[in-house]
Amino acid sequence: MLSQYCVSLASIQKAQSVIAGLVHLTPILTNSTLDQRAERQIFLKCELFQKTGSFKIRGALNAVSSLVERGKDGSEVRAVVTHSSGNHGQALALAARLQGVPSYVVVPRTAPACKKAAMAGYGAILVECEPSDQSREEAASRTVAETQGILVHPNQDPLVIAGQGTIGLEILQQVPDVQAVVVPVGGGGLISGIAVAIKTQRPDVKVYAAEPENADDCYRSKRSGRLTPNARPPVTLADAVKTSIGPSTWPIIRDLVDDVFTVSEQEIQSATRLVWERAKLVIEPTAGLGVAATLSRRFRGLPAGLRNVCVVLCGGNADLDSLRWLAAAGGAD
Ligand SMILES: Cc1ncc(COP(=O)(O)O)c(C=O)c1O
Repeated sequence: MLSQYCVSLASIQKAQSVIAGLVHLTPILTNSTLDQRAERQIFLKCELFQKTGSFKIRGALNAVSSLVERGKDGSEVRAVVTHSSGNHGQALALAARLQGVPSYVVVPRTAPACKKAAMAGYGAILVECEPSDQSREEAASRTVAETQGILVHPNQDPLVIAGQGTIGLEILQQVPDVQAVVVPVGGGGLISGIAVAIKTQRPDVKVYAAEPENADDCYRSKRSGRLTPNARPPVTLADAVKTSIGPSTWPIIRDLVDDVFTVSEQEIQSATRLVWERAKLVIEPTAGLGVAATLSRRFRGLPAGLRNVCVVLCGGNADLDSLRWLAAAGGAD
């Protein structure tokens, strides 16, 4: 059954060997306050400590390295191109720099200055567009044509999804008695890779998605059995998951994700603050989303026998300028 998907256990294992030594093996941390609140044993997979501050470097590196390897047979990779206002842009820029390939990132002109600076800092050439899907796609196609580059989609590219799946392989090694994983979902590349890695080896482990109520396309798609993108651009603090799941990730999510837990903006804020205060981990709100789902009333209603739950803390690129008190205090430099 699993052969019908765009990634397989073999492609994820290959990704693991491609990116080995270039990314961190991120730690699993625990916190007793979280355990008490969740009434379970919570394991935090700390991708906020990953290079570029999020898991995205895994997929980006697998994609760029694999393209460069294939290109050795003749067609050299002239450039890589993507559209992203955040973590994928930074990751692709670093991956491209490591491989000596120019990178172009199409970014909405309204994206936070700190994110643009981070992408440029990793060596990306920024191409500004209007903040709409149409403008983003047009600018990306134009840039691909002008640079003769290759588009690396942030969440639908099979090489990217396989790279993200390496987190699933690590979780099974690091937490052998894990019973469930909780994963924030935007375009679904992260959860799809993890679901294939885990379900092919341990079908008994539950794979749960976490989504904001304000961006609940995955929840609605699962309920209706049909890919149902967000009707309009969502407004949510979890800014990395505003995108909808797509044609590569939907079949995997449809078949392998056990349930989707949606949470309010208030729950995302409280969970993010709890992790900052109690676990001392500077996560971005999208990572707080997974914790919020685990603390939600519906999740707490799951059987008590489901003890060991691993939450993927997917990133730590919090926009500190958006926190009023921190912005007023000013930066260190
Ligand atoms: C920190 C973080 N978490 C989660 C996601 C969601 O990943 P995906 O779009 O693969 O579902 C993203 C995507 O940008 C992200 O940057």
